[in-house]
Amino acid sequence: MKKKVAVLMGGFSGEREVSLSSAQGVLKALQELGHDGIPVDVTRCMKTLIHNLETHKPDVVLNILHGRWGEDGCIQGLLEMMGLSYSNSGVLGSSLAMNKAVARKLCQLKGIRVPEGLVAKLQDVCEGKVMKPPYVIKPIGEGSSLGVHIILDEKTPLPDPNSWPFEDEVLVERYIPGREIHVAVMGKKAIGAIEIKPHTGFYDYEAKYTDGKAAHLMPAPIHEQAYAQALEWAEKAHKVLECRGISRSDFRYDDTKGEPGELYYLETNPQPGLTPLSLVPEIAAHTGISYAQLVQWMVEDASCRR
Ligand SMILES: Nc1ncnc2c1ncn2[C@@H]1O[C@H](COP(=O)(O)OP(=O)(O)O)[C@@H](O)[C@H]1O
Ligand SMILES: [Mg+2]
Repeated sequence: MKKKVAVLMGGFSGEREVSLSSAQGVLKALQELGHDGIPVDVTRCMKTLIHNLETHKPDVVLNILHGRWGEDGCIQGLLEMMGLSYSNSGVLGSSLAMNKAVARKLCQLKGIRVPEGLVAKLQDVCEGKVMKPPYVIKPIGEGSSLGVHIILDEKTPLPDPNSWPFEDEVLVERYIPGREIHVAVMGKKAIGAIEIKPHTGFYDYEAKYTDGKAAHLMPAPIHEQAYAQALEWAEKAHKVLECRGISRSDFRYDDTKGEPGELYYLETNPQPGLTPLSLVPEIAAHTGISYAQLVQWMVEDASCRR
């Protein structure tokens, strides 16, 4: 059945460009599916956003925003208050998952292995008071590897706390050597795990969004026990974090002492990317779900706590 679908895109987080790229694909798929897709560019002006939504009166809102305000429960709260059905996680799920420090605590309580880690002031981290290398510094509520610094040894340059654009408090984690595994969950069920091998460095912003910067191996060629555990943990994380719709959980897999190695949970993305290089569409395609079918599923799965 043809639906009027508002596509929330852009936003004003550091991931604006990623969202615009995701939304381009979604709008094209909506057209192919015969829906009436309405692009809604989200800016700081809430009045315009509310006016757009009230004017168009969509049947469904596809939230294609990433990062702060779009992925952390803020926009979800507005959509709830307007009584609109929207895709993916609600207010609680979005805010729990987007806070990496809270997410790892809840997952740990469920028996999921997480790297040794703690929240600390960036200043203290840089003064060497928190952890000895190798460790990783990351903002608590960002995505797309924005602000992630891997401090492998004493010689690695540290970020400057005076020009740090994120919150003063950061998550500091033990660096886990090995491999990069990402798992897609669709409606409570893990549908597959992919391995990413960046050609140089780590899976940073450039490796995520520039073609040819990383190899994607689907399904992840890891020991079957580790593969099964990755799927199980991603489902558990989706559940304990109260996620809905589609999510993607990221793991490190330390096989440096042989297979099966040890899997470590990093984070869950309640609004995973849908760009041409994004992983959820690639994992879905491998299980026979096309990009358009994924979008159709999101349209049907969208809901609101009325
Ligand atoms: N503890 C860690 N050990 C090794 N690499 C890490 C660790 N934490 C993050 N990374 C690297 O940084 C990337 C981004 O970190 P992640 O926690 O997934 O945040 P986000 O993707 O939201 O920016 C990971 O995909 C991984 O390559
Ligand atoms: Mg990640």
